[in-house]
Amino acid sequence: MGRCEHQVVGEDQPSRSKIVLVGFMGTGKSTVAGQLAGRLGYGWTDTDSEVVAAEGCSIAELFARHGEPYFRQAETRALTRLLTADTPLVIATGGGTVLSEANRELMLRHGFVAALRASEAVIVERVAGDTARPLLAGDPAAKVRELMKARSGAYDFAQLSVDTDGLDPGAVAESVLSGYLGTSGLYRVSE
Ligand code: S3P
Repeated sequence: MGRCEHQVVGEDQPSRSKIVLVGFMGTGKSTVAGQLAGRLGYGWTDTDSEVVAAEGCSIAELFARHGEPYFRQAETRALTRLLTADTPLVIATGGGTVLSEANRELMLRHGFVAALRASEAVIVERVAGDTARPLLAGDPAAKVRELMKARSGAYDFAQLSVDTDGLDPGAVAESVLSGYLGTSGLYRVSE
């Protein structure tokens, strides 16, 4: 092996201290992120809040003023910042973050990725009357149906998938936690 062929441990190795929650809108990512962070003593945030803080306006305003592609770029910048931060973090991502292959690779490289799933009926119930999500404006039920169809398979790259229907956020957090601890080696008793 030549001098430049060695593997740089720490650069290509997945970080043990980031948990990334992906999933469709209304699957409870932010609520579960808070629960998980409390259990682990980690901080938590979501990419939407980071985008709002960085851009100084709401997600709806960003879509209206600059369009979705602009929002997606801001989202990727926020995701990159969070994943490369020096502190342990639980990161709830916006439902469309997974649409970029580069984002998916980043998440897998830097964190443990868990997908939260929910049925169409549950999601529609949760997002009904919501005005903060521009992609659901007009007829939320029809938009949810259309987007879920268009995004089928988009969350399959995650290392763990949790069906959240009928589970409270604490139970979902416990499922993610056991997946994370099982793969991270953080609390492995013997090798
Ligand atoms: C989006 C999901 C939203 C937000 C934006 C776009 C999407 O986040 O990022 O409205 O494309 O699915 P939540 O999944 O937290 O609702």
